[in-house]
Amino acid sequence: MKRQTIIVTGASSGIGKEVARYFLEKGDNVVINSATKRKLEETYEELGGGPNLAMVAGDVSHKHTGERLIATAVEKFGSADVLVNNAGIFETRPFLEVDEDYLDRFLRTNLKGTFFTTQAVIPQMLKQRDGVVINIGTPLVNHGLGGVPASAPLSSKGAIHSLTVQLAAEFGSRNIRVNTVAPGTIRTPMHGAHSDSMAGLALVNRVGEVQDIAEMVYTVAKSNFINGAIINVDGGMGAGHNLN
Ligand SMILES: NC(=O)c1ccc[n+]([C@@H]2O[C@H](COP(=O)([O-])OP(=O)(O)OC[C@H]3O[C@@H](n4cnc5c(N)ncnc54)[C@H](OP(=O)(O)O)[C@@H]3O)[C@@H](O)[C@H]2O)c1
Repeated sequence: MKRQTIIVTGASSGIGKEVARYFLEKGDNVVINSATKRKLEETYEELGGGPNLAMVAGDVSHKHTGERLIATAVEKFGSADVLVNNAGIFETRPFLEVDEDYLDRFLRTNLKGTFFTTQAVIPQMLKQRDGVVINIGTPLVNHGLGGVPASAPLSSKGAIHSLTVQLAAEFGSRNIRVNTVAPGTIRTPMHGAHSDSMAGLALVNRVGEVQDIAEMVYTVAKSNFINGAIINVDGGMGAGHNLN
């Protein structure tokens, strides 16, 4: 299989770090990003810091971070084949307590980060006549959970799902595919030590692992015919729950 160049945002932790590791182990070039330089440098070392790896620290909500990511991919490896828009934040707060600053945090990082990083990469993909954008969404966009007041992050994620379909339509005929992988509850630092308490949300009665998501991201990246899809990787949470 042809060696490709993958850009992964939010790769200093959790799902993004595993996605980066997975592509590296399969022999691809990877450019990693996260907002906190120190954490990103530690991840760079942890992933081996080899010739197939590069890093760009920066906040994805600024378009110039995306532009630096793409420039690094092209200068160092000659192309930007796959963008994984993984950087994201999630917190809960009751709807009536959400003020504008709080809402903006989620719109900035999750939605604008995905929007502008994609805007930065598409011109390069158009030049290549080839490219894949994979967004990270959530099945909670159309699956309510009482007791999880997440109107702010879910508004931003819902917009990412819509953006996926729209961009798939806008660029599909030019061989650029855009998809969303929507993880169920995955054991990552985002949940602290509480992941397993949510096992019953999934029909498999356990939480997912970061490898489960990395495998799907890899499959979507390497397929030729998946486009405009929202793919739940959620242990059956979308279909039902375990009451234990
Ligand atoms: N874990 C789950 O159960 C779950 C379920 C559904 C969807 N997701 C989604 O999966 C993605 C990854 O989640 P995770 O669980 O792996 O979270 P995580 O362990 O908290 O990692 C989040 C990553 O995003 C980076 N990040 C945050 N804000 C950023 C910004 N403005 N610019 C650049 N990087 C930024 C963080 O880096 P710094 O700390 O260096 O900024 C970190 O590398 C998110 O989009 C999340 O919404 C997760």
